[in-house]
Amino acid sequence: MSFLTQAQIDAYHRDGFLLLEGFADPADCRSLMDQAGRLVEGFDAAAHASVFSTVNQQKTSDDYFLSSGDQIRFFFEEEAFDAAGHLRQEKSLSINKIGHALHDRDPVFSQFSRDPRLASITADIGMARPLLMQSMYIFKQPHIGGEVVCHQDSTFLYTEPMSVVGLWFAVQDATLENGCMWALPGGHRDGLKKRFSRDGQGGVRMDVLDASPWPDCTPDNGYVPLPAKQGTLILLHGLLPHLSGPNRSPHSRHAYTIHVVDGACDYPASNWLQRSADDPARGFAG
Ligand code: FE2
Repeated sequence: MSFLTQAQIDAYHRDGFLLLEGFADPADCRSLMDQAGRLVEGFDAAAHASVFSTVNQQKTSDDYFLSSGDQIRFFFEEEAFDAAGHLRQEKSLSINKIGHALHDRDPVFSQFSRDPRLASITADIGMARPLLMQSMYIFKQPHIGGEVVCHQDSTFLYTEPMSVVGLWFAVQDATLENGCMWALPGGHRDGLKKRFSRDGQGGVRMDVLDASPWPDCTPDNGYVPLPAKQGTLILLHGLLPHLSGPNRSPHSRHAYTIHVVDGACDYPASNWLQRSADDPARGFAG
């Protein structure tokens, strides 16, 4: 059964994104926040100080990151530590994100992620066999929440043909002040600029496929902000250029994302995120 109207499907294909306000109810957002808080509480920060940065993607891609595809792991904000290597603020306000298999490893996130409406939505936009490949809980912490530079999700989850779709949920209000997303409508039609992959020697590489830079992120260059009230779902085409600024406000901007790929497409062994044959990515039915 379809969930989206034809007008919404057309808008998604035209713009490369679609906002669905009020998709998740406040109680569900609250339970994701509470569960993320419990997970952070149980995380031993001293044992695993791994930083997430989209500015220094290769530098910060350590084994802890590369083997996180089927795990629940924790990545710090770049500005979380002082010069002496100590956390500037408490652990719960220092984590950039949790990834990358909350949808399979945590019961609360699994139930949220396998909402039958999401199966309908991905079918509506043309996915033949949607597989939940990656999930992240993003904190965008007050004051130190890091920017996410302009990118395409297909850079990180490449399939042939390209198929990744991002399901981005505003767990809290995302505003211009606390680092909401920005996107370049229609930019998904211009091809993939970069591909991030394993280099075959235990590390990663970023191949530039099109060296032309993104236009600066300004309204004059066609970018639009995507402020999103709590509960909003934003669908993002895998080739859509999007980004978010740092959060210098006193308010966190929690979001949950699921990246879905089409199992009908080829998923290369060189993608950074790999699942083992006995624990493959699964669909919405589980
Ligand atoms: Fe993204």
